[in-house]
Amino acid sequence: MPGGESNQILVQLEGVVIGYSQDTPLAEISSLNVRCGEIIAIAGLSGIGKTTLIKTIAGLVQPLAGRISVCGAEIPKRPDRGNLGYIPQRLGLVRHASVFHNVLIGSRATYGGFLGVLASKDAKEMARKSIEKMGLTEKIWEPVRRLSGGQQRRVATARTLAQSPRVILADEFLSELDHETMSNVSETVVNYARSADAAVILIEHDMKRASNIADKIMVMDEGTLKILNPESMMMEVQK
Ligand SMILES: Nc1ncnc2c1ncn2[C@@H]1O[C@H](COP(=O)(O)OP(=O)(O)OP(=O)(O)O)[C@@H](O)[C@H]1O
Ligand SMILES: [Mg+2]
Repeated sequence: MPGGESNQILVQLEGVVIGYSQDTPLAEISSLNVRCGEIIAIAGLSGIGKTTLIKTIAGLVQPLAGRISVCGAEIPKRPDRGNLGYIPQRLGLVRHASVFHNVLIGSRATYGGFLGVLASKDAKEMARKSIEKMGLTEKIWEPVRRLSGGQQRRVATARTLAQSPRVILADEFLSELDHETMSNVSETVVNYARSADAAVILIEHDMKRASNIADKIMVMDEGTLKILNPESMMMEVQK
């Protein structure tokens, strides 16, 4: 669903504490708003809680405290099917199934088909287009397990784009890609976000890459999320 009010907040966190136990919370995010067309990158040390944050926003891990809403639905309510696209760090692909089948699973979320053979023509077309955008047309009937790590990452990205989400949560989706492929994949996702007015939260270790893609870079550190301003000065996120 492209368009929408351009300043609309698609992801909102207030007083959110993330983690797996009340005794050892990983981080507290006092306030975070991500608007239509906005791309935010999150960096931080390994094990600090970046994936946990993304999973919490995706509704896969319960927040220890606070309020999270995505596309107007406050967790534990979920946004409408297809509105939230998640590219996990562990990709969650069906390894024995083809590239096409894996991507179709994404587009079906929006188009409501049932099994692969019954999926609508639109859904199949959308899957093919997303695969083409990711440069995987030659591999379309190949089982995913025969693909390289970077190619599998691109399948997961195609799967998300095929569902035309309003919000994309991408966990290190550019790792394992060579420079040229990385540029193509990130450009495709950025172009999608701009044209569909979607909000993107991505996790990216490489600061140079993050600054090329994102409007804003945040670092998870010392139990909170800090904004990295252009002078590389750290300051607490306050909005
Ligand atoms: N299901 C779980 N139950 C309990 N603890 C967990 C669970 N998943 C992750 N953790 C712990 O939470 C902490 C944060 O993990 P997380 O995966 O969010 O880190 P990360 O910042 O994404 O790291 P990386 O950059 O290595 O991907 C780690 O100490 C991890 O062991
Ligand atoms: Mg992680």
